[in-house]
Amino acid sequence: MNLLRTKSVEQSIRDTEEPAHRLRRELSALDLTVFGVGVIIGTGIFVLTGQVAKDKAGPAVSLSFIFAAVVCGLAALCYAEFASTLPVAGSAYTFSYSTLGEFPAWIIGWDLILEMALGAAVVAVGWSGYFAELLDDIGITVPGSLADPPGEGGTVNVPAIALVLLVTGLLVLGVKISSRVNEVVVAIKVIVVLLVIFAGLFFIKGANYDPFIPPAHPTPDVAGLDAPLVQVMFGSAPVSYGWPGVFSAVAIVFFAYIGFDVVATAAEEARRPQRDLPIGLIGSLIVTAVLYSSVSAVVAGMENYKNLSTDAPLADAFKSVGHTAFSTIISVGAVIGLTTVVMILLLGQSRIFFAMGRDGLMPRWLSVVHPRFGTPYRSTIIMGVIVAVLAGFIPLSELAELVNIGTLFAFLVVSVGIMILRRTRPELPRAFRTPWVPVIPVLSVLACLFVMINLPVATWLRFLVWMVVGIVVYALYGYRHSRLGRASEVSVKS
Ligand code: ALA
Repeated sequence: MNLLRTKSVEQSIRDTEEPAHRLRRELSALDLTVFGVGVIIGTGIFVLTGQVAKDKAGPAVSLSFIFAAVVCGLAALCYAEFASTLPVAGSAYTFSYSTLGEFPAWIIGWDLILEMALGAAVVAVGWSGYFAELLDDIGITVPGSLADPPGEGGTVNVPAIALVLLVTGLLVLGVKISSRVNEVVVAIKVIVVLLVIFAGLFFIKGANYDPFIPPAHPTPDVAGLDAPLVQVMFGSAPVSYGWPGVFSAVAIVFFAYIGFDVVATAAEEARRPQRDLPIGLIGSLIVTAVLYSSVSAVVAGMENYKNLSTDAPLADAFKSVGHTAFSTIISVGAVIGLTTVVMILLLGQSRIFFAMGRDGLMPRWLSVVHPRFGTPYRSTIIMGVIVAVLAGFIPLSELAELVNIGTLFAFLVVSVGIMILRRTRPELPRAFRTPWVPVIPVLSVLACLFVMINLPVATWLRFLVWMVVGIVVYALYGYRHSRLGRASEVSVKS
């Protein structure tokens, strides 16, 4: 058994040169940054801000957004070094294969399904909510049975399925088309967020910020599996607000930043990956951190946190001050904006499957590139169909936190990987070097762990079950079919 066999950095790069498995190199630094911003701004800011301010953090929600950005920033500094050293598709999966070994890489690839595929499904469901609301504004009512999954009062979520299939089609047609569409949509989304910030400034009432961090308040009904792991570990009584509330809010608004790492999954399609990837990763994170903390501070100043809406907080904040026209514009922006989030998460997922197929850990036919469009169409279509089914039929509201824990775990492994790669391959050319190694990677690991233990016990249990299933699949398929494993068998025999 050789669970820790590693694929060399050189081999990873060489694999990208095989003609049938080669992606086109077309993306610039700006494309990559736009890509990042396109996937980052989504359900997190458009929906979660209200819920989190109301139930957990109060007006201090903007602090939670800043803390979450710091956690992501530490991980981004590690991602940037990896991505600029190993510019091949597959992100954290590829990084781990070259550093920690095949089994940890598999674990990460499997784990990333939670971030990308499940994340895409969660956002598609959020999108369908806004979409139904907009149709309602123009007098068309979507019957509940066709807009909700079983278990949430409906039969199937038709808009969510339609969105996922449409996006899948665009991705099959090629990255360039999708990034063009993306640029326009990202512009709309950023303008809407800026509009909220600048128009909202005029409606802020100082009294809404008092107290900024509401005093901690016991919540005995949030106990057992629903309580954050950290509160169970230390046997403390469950509370909302206060500093514990601000931190449990970090674990939820973290969702709002998910996606900057997807920039790394497009490494193989970047024109000058060495220079452009770090710019794309860190640039998109800085832009969104500034937008999020400002927008959440403005919204919390417009309305008392206890009255914030949990479905459409940005739009409803304007309704509360009597500006319905603004609120419709914001809803239109949200509908358009969430589309790109789904698009890029699906793109990231198909590229990871593509990389795993190329390595033989998933069936190899998955990673064949379309002769005309130059895209890994098979993995794209298969993932699209799976995500459409998830979004259409599974009640996903509870699963969003599973997306967070999966992503945090991947960040943690990448941060460990960066320290290992510095020791095992110190000589590799690195266009971007993480500053202050090992301080930054160690801080990143601690920050991810801290946020993870602020997630509910139930989320941890679901995460563990998913990982056990992954280990079984690896034992039954990946371990035997691994290209690396086969190559080493051949060289031992000869
Ligand atoms: N960051 C993305 C969102 O907020 C996933 O929707």
